[in-house]
Amino acid sequence: MIVPLAFFNINRDSYTYSEGRKYDKLNVMSQKWNNNFEIGHSEIDHHHEEVFEVTTMLDFAIENNDRSELNKIIKYLEHYVVDHFNEEESLMQKHNFNGYHDHKDEHDIFTDLVKELRRLYDENIHTTHIILKIRKFTDQLMHHIITTDSKMSGLH
Ligand SMILES: [Fe+2]
Ligand SMILES: [Fe+2]
Repeated sequence: MIVPLAFFNINRDSYTYSEGRKYDKLNVMSQKWNNNFEIGHSEIDHHHEEVFEVTTMLDFAIENNDRSELNKIIKYLEHYVVDHFNEEESLMQKHNFNGYHDHKDEHDIFTDLVKELRRLYDENIHTTHIILKIRKFTDQLMHHIITTDSKMSGLH
């Protein structure tokens, strides 16, 4: 099971500090989740919807100049590329899905990119650089959800 974003105290409207202060979402430039992106598999759809909230977490990290928030995001993505991708790949294999190999190739690229994010964080690379990389990663992942994952529509 993927670790839910709720683990990081996030919800749709605000991000709550441990002190109880609230940070309102910055929606500028952010791609919003749209129910049209659903493929009809509730667990997978839920994971996808969460990905669209990662930019909110990133906004929070930038606003608060808190490097440890980036670690939380990277941890979330590390779970995502294992648990979520396994779930999709199993679903496609179960249905002998035609686009399986191309889809898995894309997953493998994302998995490598997350390893790179982890390396940058652990090697203490400048925060701004990591923020940019995470933002690029989430943009690509949202694109994957809209274009590639959507082809699994109807698989159960
Ligand atoms: Fe997906
Ligand atoms: Fe996928």
